[in-house]
Amino acid sequence: MKNGIKIVTIGGGSSYTPELIEGFIKRYDELPVSEIWLVDINKGNQKLEIVGNLARRMVEKAGLPIDIHLTLNRREALKDADFVTTQFRVGLLDARAKDERIPLKYDVIGQETNGPGGLFKGLRTIPVILEICRDMEELCPDAWLVNFTNPAGMVTEAVLRYSNIKKVVGLCNVPIGMRMGIAKALGVDPDRVQVDFAGLNHMVFGLDVYVDGKSVKDKVINALGNPENEMTMKNIAGFAWDRDFIKGMGIIPCGYHRYYYKTDEMLAEEKESSATNGTRAEVVQQLEKDLFELYRNPELNVKPTQLEKRGGAYYSEAACSLINSIYNDKRDIQPVNTRNNGAIASIPDESAIEINCVITKEGPRPIAIGDLPVAVRGLVQQIKSFERMAAEAAVTGDYHKALVAMTINPLVPSDTIAKKMLDEMLEAHKEDLPQFFNEVKS
Ligand code: G6P
Repeated sequence: MKNGIKIVTIGGGSSYTPELIEGFIKRYDELPVSEIWLVDINKGNQKLEIVGNLARRMVEKAGLPIDIHLTLNRREALKDADFVTTQFRVGLLDARAKDERIPLKYDVIGQETNGPGGLFKGLRTIPVILEICRDMEELCPDAWLVNFTNPAGMVTEAVLRYSNIKKVVGLCNVPIGMRMGIAKALGVDPDRVQVDFAGLNHMVFGLDVYVDGKSVKDKVINALGNPENEMTMKNIAGFAWDRDFIKGMGIIPCGYHRYYYKTDEMLAEEKESSATNGTRAEVVQQLEKDLFELYRNPELNVKPTQLEKRGGAYYSEAACSLINSIYNDKRDIQPVNTRNNGAIASIPDESAIEINCVITKEGPRPIAIGDLPVAVRGLVQQIKSFERMAAEAAVTGDYHKALVAMTINPLVPSDTIAKKMLDEMLEAHKEDLPQFFNEVKS
């Protein structure tokens, strides 16, 4: 690779960008990044400039020769990129707030990546990621696409099925969050904890857990039932699990499984908190305001700790470790979203799964597990069918397929409610869903 590595970050004006910059700075000796291009769209705010200037101060403080470029021109940025990371949000947080609020009216979970909200985030996002893939084919055909944009599993599925990009990896901070939560609950350093991850994005399980190579699964199951160990992400209410239930399952759920196994409690909590504090998107809008106020400060030249209040905290750990391992052919083990290739028997080979992989310069090689335990296999397959139908609906703009996707989602109680929510949400997101309204279709 040329004189240094060229990174392009789409959605570069995100408040999460300092995470990424910190990650590249930390790894510079092994991962000589020479250019970082932050790409965004102009919606009349100055987020790109504010975050870009902070990135420049961070690099300067570190004394590293990394050029930070800010642009609204995606194609200019993509030319000859080595790694393209995506962290954009179509419709911004206002769209997320609608995804969270509308389902609540129908007594259905309103969530960014699960249920009706996840469906709509996918419908808005997939056409855009596919455009990016087409640009990459032309402008940087050898680059890796490292996608963070949610719903990350569905987006990876769509890239694998509907684009010519093969070098794609979907990333999430949930596995790192689980490892950290487990380490905290057991009172050990996170570096000593290993987890056998397998499943789908936001539907990943720890099949076994080790401290220094010795299984501690029973201890972790015990800890999950203790209300003091929340073991969750900042964006998910951390109700304690029923210890007997988890014991019966014999595997470790992720935070998002609460939406499926504790639906009534989660719904009640969502209704209450959205009435008092606003939905999570609305809370995050305030957090973002505060963060951007801090970022503006010309004295600030490090990532502020307040960023840890976001659910995606430490996501750069995942992104930068992955890029480092691909670049240096490290062959270490990391949980990522990749093509199944037979690693989980009950999921189609060509579908995206989230699983521990050996990370090589040719990309992730999933570590086959055989199959998921029978207790969770059905749910995982159902979510995979939902993701596939949703991706197809996003690509075709087919109302009937979108209705099927909505109805088969396990958080949606009936076809009647599905249809009402679909119609209301299509209307609410009309501007960001041209494929459903016969407008400019690329
Ligand atoms: C979790 C998920 C991310 C998600 C984030 C939302 O960490 O893994 O996929 O984007 O939470 O956090 P927020 O602070 O935006 O609610």
